[in-house]
Amino acid sequence: MPLVTTTEMFKKAYDGGYAIGAFNVNNMEIVQGITEAAGELNSPLILQVSKGARKYANHTYLVKLVEAALIENNIPIALHLDHGPDFETCKACIDGGFSSVMIDASKYDFNKNIEITKKVVEYAHAHGVVVEAELGKLAGVEDDVNVKDADAMYTQPDEVEEFVSRTGVDSLAIAIGTSHGAFKFKPGTDPQLRFDILDEISRRIPGFPIVLHGASSVSQEYVKIIQANGGNLKDAIGVPEEMLRKAARSSVCKVNIDSDLRLAMTAGVREVLYNNPGAFDPREYLKVGRANVKSIVAHKIKNVLGSDGKA
Ligand code: G3H
Ligand code: 13P
Ligand code: ZN
Repeated sequence: MPLVTTTEMFKKAYDGGYAIGAFNVNNMEIVQGITEAAGELNSPLILQVSKGARKYANHTYLVKLVEAALIENNIPIALHLDHGPDFETCKACIDGGFSSVMIDASKYDFNKNIEITKKVVEYAHAHGVVVEAELGKLAGVEDDVNVKDADAMYTQPDEVEEFVSRTGVDSLAIAIGTSHGAFKFKPGTDPQLRFDILDEISRRIPGFPIVLHGASSVSQEYVKIIQANGGNLKDAIGVPEEMLRKAARSSVCKVNIDSDLRLAMTAGVREVLYNNPGAFDPREYLKVGRANVKSIVAHKIKNVLGSDGKA
C-alpha cells in the first residue's frame, strides 16, 4: 500500500470517536516495533520524523525504512514531519516523499504564525501533502508562572476560526496543558488538562481535526525497570491514560507519542546490558528494546486510542 495523507484517517477517527497514534521514529528498530504492532492490530498509523531525527538518521534512510514498513504491513501509513521549524524544512520533506508536514510557527505572534503557515499550506497542497499547524504554546506550566501568563500559553479558542480559515491548514495542534518529555507535572500535584478549552475549540470549528502533542503517559513500569537497572528517572510523570481516552473520543484525531517509546526502548536496552555486562552484540539488546516498543504501541492502540481494526 502506498503512503497516505491523514485526510481520510482523520475523518473516520473524528466520526468514530477514536484517535490515530503519531509515533516518532529515529531508527530501524523503532520503525519495526511500531509498525508490527499496528500491522497486527490492523490500525491506521502516522509515523513522524522530527528535525532531530532527520539530523540523526538522515532523511533518505528514514523514508526508505518507512517504505520497507509499507511493504511488510498492509495498513494505511502517513509519513509526517514533526515540528517543522520553517518553510525550507517543510519543503524538503514535501519534495522528499512525506505525505504530511507540521509547520510549527507557534513561537511567533498570531499574524506571523498565519503568514508562515499559509506559505507552507500553499506549497504542500499544490503537491498533495497535508499540513498541521500549532496555535498556543506547548510548555510545562511551572509554579513560578503566574496565572495570567499560564493562561496566555493555552490556545485561545477565540483565535482558532480565524487561524484555520486564513491559513487553510488541515489540522491544528493546541495547547491545553500537555508538554513534551518525561517530566510533565510536578510530583505530588494532580495532573490536569484544560478540557474546557478543547470543548470550546471543537464548538467553534466543528468537524475539524485537533492534534494533541506531548501525550506520553510515561509508563511507570518502564520507569521502574530503568531505575532498577542503573538509570535515574525519578519524578518522571506523564499524562494519565484516562485523559487521553477522553481526548481520543473527542475532536482529537492525532495523539503524539515519543517519550513513551524512548522509555520502552531504553528500559529494554538497560535491562540487558546491566544484567549481562559481557553482552556486546547490538542485536541482543536492541531486540529487547524493539519488543518493548511494539508492546507499548499495541497497548496505546488497543487500550487508549481505540484505532485497532480501523485500517
Ligand atoms: O516533540 C518532540 C519530539 O519528541 C521529537 O523530539 O526533537 O528530540 O527528535 P526530538
Ligand atoms: P511526548 O514527549 O509526550 O512523547 O510528546 C511527543 C510529541 O509531541 C512529538 O511531537
Ligand atoms: Zn510535539
